[in-house]
Amino acid sequence: MSRLVVISNRVPLPDKSGTAPAGGLAVALQAALEERGGVWMGWSGKSISAREKPGINIQEHGKITYALVDLSRKDVDEYYAGFANRVLWPLCHYRLDLTEYARKDMAGYFRVNRLFAHHLAPLVKSDDMIWVHDYHLIPLASELRQMGLKNRIGFFLHIPWPPADVLFTLPVHETIMRGLASYDVIGFQTSHDVENFAGCLKREGIGREIGNGLFEAYGHVFRAEVFPIAIDTSAFAHVAQNAQRHAMVQRMQKSLGERDLIIGVDRLDYSKGITNRIEAFEHFITNNPGSQGKVTFLQITPKSRSEVPEYEDMQRTVAELAGRVNGAVSAVDWVPIRYVNRSIGRNVLAGLYRMAKVGLVTPLRDGMNLVAKEYVAAQRAEDPGVLILSRFAGAARELDGALLVNPYDIEAVSNAIARALSMPLEARRERWNQMMPHLLEHDVSRWCEDFLQVLAAEPGGTTGAD
Ligand code: UDP
Ligand code: G6P
Repeated sequence: MSRLVVISNRVPLPDKSGTAPAGGLAVALQAALEERGGVWMGWSGKSISAREKPGINIQEHGKITYALVDLSRKDVDEYYAGFANRVLWPLCHYRLDLTEYARKDMAGYFRVNRLFAHHLAPLVKSDDMIWVHDYHLIPLASELRQMGLKNRIGFFLHIPWPPADVLFTLPVHETIMRGLASYDVIGFQTSHDVENFAGCLKREGIGREIGNGLFEAYGHVFRAEVFPIAIDTSAFAHVAQNAQRHAMVQRMQKSLGERDLIIGVDRLDYSKGITNRIEAFEHFITNNPGSQGKVTFLQITPKSRSEVPEYEDMQRTVAELAGRVNGAVSAVDWVPIRYVNRSIGRNVLAGLYRMAKVGLVTPLRDGMNLVAKEYVAAQRAEDPGVLILSRFAGAARELDGALLVNPYDIEAVSNAIARALSMPLEARRERWNQMMPHLLEHDVSRWCEDFLQVLAAEPGGTTGAD
């Protein structure tokens, strides 16, 4: 079995005791790396001053070598905060109004990818399989190829892929497409993303679909397929079962009393539709006066990417909106929205999901949305809650027992909340039974194995045309 080399912008480094951080993807990739041996490389999270020389920190944990690359302040500003999060992220989430096409950020993005390739190449053995993750690192394979590496290289995009008309607004779309075509296997979250990608290839005659998942572009044959990312379902269900013992979960239950709980959990990101959701909840609560005092909406929203102006602005917008709604609707003994602006650990989160009668997951656009899957996994089989899910989340393709909504349609989401809160037990069980077996069968270990199997099997290669 070949060794595995994983590269992602963030690296979930084990703590001093060697324990891996919680989280499905980290656990699954760490398990695959433990089994095969290998390397996990990414950004150290540090930005160093222009005077210092950027270093690479190598740490060994069992059979895994972690390689953490320091970046300069300029690198972080241009590659991470700039091109990755002010260009690719809004573009792939259909937010052309938020893209900032600064030439220096584009240059910084390609420069940092080259830097990663230079640090990575000496650590790679000739028969290693390389697996690159997410939009920060699209050009990495072409950089590695230019350095002469012949390894199998796969890429998984965790976020959506946009249609041609959206992508072609990007001045360097051609270089990005060429970068993707340098991989042997590209994994997308949904068939919609693969269709968009195929459309981008066809539109300007960049490439063509050969059939059976194979494509050809820039003289290279590669595979583009759907691998919907998953969670560690049975472990998560287990954590949720035990969470009842956690003091914070008990405190929450006590403070809730007889009220019904609705839960939303998202990074503070404009793609998550948090303001639309609060407006939908406000609509529900004002149009259903009987529910006042009987329902609590808990929105957990850790801060994210605060160095990016759009994210900083959002912190104020969401806090103000939640405050305004609470001010307008609260009673002396009841606050409708509990807005928590920090991260909650998975042990507590799982217990809160389980306590909630409704999981409100309404992104405007999302690659997958793991919160939706976690909410379902955390439910009690005998008395499950209802998932309200945006049709624009990748998860909507799999979770057919959810109440699917258009998150832009405030009244429709408000109606879905009313329907979910009054849904009879039999209907809730039926819906949950439509989803849970699928999540148990298609968990994150299977996702990892499926991708690596395809990467190992498919030869790909050059056609000699370019
Ligand atoms: N999460 C968490 N604590 C929080 C908020 C979120 O552990 O306070 C986790 C959540 O359980 C999920 C992940 O962060 O596993 C979010 O993944 P998702 O796919 O929903 O969205 P992303 O943040 O990747 O866009
Ligand atoms: C999404 C992206 C990940 C990213 C995460 C957190 O899930 O797909 O690549 O790591 O958000 O964002 P951050 O910018 O803090 O890494």
